[in-house]
Amino acid sequence: MFFEILSDAAETLSIECLVVGIEADGKLSPTASHLNTLTQGAIQDLIDSGDFSGAAGEQQLLRNLPGLTAPRLLLIGLGKTDERKDRHYRKLVKGINQTLGKLKLKSVAIALDGLASDQPDPYRQTRLLTEWTSADFYQYDTTKSKKAEPTTLEQYAILLPEDAAELGESALLDGVAIANGINSARELGNLPGNICTPTYLADKAKALAEEFEALKVKVLDEEKMEKLGMHSLLSVGRGSAQPSKLIIIEYQGGQKDDAPHVLVGKGITFDTGGISLKPGAAMDEMKFDMCGAASVIGTIEAVAEMHLPLNLIAVVAAAENMPGSQATKPGDVVTTMSGQTVEILNTDAEGRLVLCDALTYVERFKPASVIDVATLTGACIIALGHHASGLLSNNDTLAEALLTAGDYAADRAWPLPLWDEYQELLDSNFADMANIGGRSAGTITAACFLSRFTKAYPWAHLDIAGTAWNSNGKEKGATGRCVSLLCQYLIDQAETLDLPESAHEHSHH
Ligand code: BES
Ligand code: MN
Ligand code: ZN
Repeated sequence: MFFEILSDAAETLSIECLVVGIEADGKLSPTASHLNTLTQGAIQDLIDSGDFSGAAGEQQLLRNLPGLTAPRLLLIGLGKTDERKDRHYRKLVKGINQTLGKLKLKSVAIALDGLASDQPDPYRQTRLLTEWTSADFYQYDTTKSKKAEPTTLEQYAILLPEDAAELGESALLDGVAIANGINSARELGNLPGNICTPTYLADKAKALAEEFEALKVKVLDEEKMEKLGMHSLLSVGRGSAQPSKLIIIEYQGGQKDDAPHVLVGKGITFDTGGISLKPGAAMDEMKFDMCGAASVIGTIEAVAEMHLPLNLIAVVAAAENMPGSQATKPGDVVTTMSGQTVEILNTDAEGRLVLCDALTYVERFKPASVIDVATLTGACIIALGHHASGLLSNNDTLAEALLTAGDYAADRAWPLPLWDEYQELLDSNFADMANIGGRSAGTITAACFLSRFTKAYPWAHLDIAGTAWNSNGKEKGATGRCVSLLCQYLIDQAETLDLPESAHEHSHH
């Protein structure tokens, strides 16, 4: 599918369908009003007849109106002004795309006159429209013998007034890049555990480095990690036939000596719980336990495609958590790369065990910021449900920047406290710390554990256990959360760098 920005008069477009909005109580949008005049009142007639009111989500397809080049006009109800929140805008876009999909159209032009969202910023409106539309046409069929019918839509034009076209253009480019990153993340997440192994993730990273000039990749095998003293990470994959990997993807878009931003992803390609075995119900969903890794891979892919003028490093800590004769047992004590020892009281709290060594490893980059992303705790789903990712940080400026980025990108996070009072829940009689903190505050104690390995840099942790995938029926599958949030954070960072080249076109605030 090819997205483009057009500023032509809507009535002259040679496309199969034109989409325009009508506000609540039949109030014509500027484009609808213009087309109404050209079509001798066809739109107003429809409204006067009572058949269309402009209620949120309402749709009406009109055909062969006089005065229009396009053979179809799809009217979209924009609803009342308080029905233009992100969730309404998302639903509206999905509704349009479902109709376009059913009609099997090749080309469409969409003119919403900036009215579909309560946030007037044309960059944001256009970027979200692009991201969401691309997501709506993603179909998983990799492991089906019967392939999904490819979408017929080839041309997706977004109509913007002349003076917003340039901004719209950059929004579209960013939107497409981010959407590609999201779709990569979803695809990795959806792949089953017998295909998407730590080795597969490493191969995916290598493939990306082939595709993008600015990306370099390095993969550490178990032997190298052993030498580095990453015994905590290695303890997780002990019960598995699949070798663990540490995958390092470097993007250089800034000056060579600019401090990089670092993303660290939890890449448990299947989490059985290990010897602390999980119950059987819905255990298949633990193939999604590498969605943090998928997000950081998708993000660096998008950043490379956007050519952001900064340096970024994505690190994936990949392992398969299985029971087995060599598997780590409850009560085992391991020494982390940092030198701190951990009593593994529950082998199902494995995410923090792989992340802590990756977080120590990245100290060598002297990072500007480090953000880890992980499907870390079931407790996060209890705390925040499926709408917000959990955010914990040792740095208020960084936390604020991530919250703001999440709001802007409609990929929200919400903070939980990381107070010292919680740290003592990790006390152990047999090691420097235990890997679990008991029943209370599970998301916080997990982050407390990580915080003991992140003292050298500004750090934030995103718990995406509730947001990384959808469990419901036809909707079941990876979401690509929080690629948008991370991309937005990095776009914002690139802007505040204020490089002399000003080579990038990402200013939108
Ligand atoms: N991957 C899980 C967390 C998870 C569970 C995410 C369900 C999404 C849905 C993680 O490795 C885990 O098992 N965490 C344990 C920690 C506990 C043993 C302290 C949990 O949340 O139960
Ligand atoms: Mn687990
Ligand atoms: Zn896990």
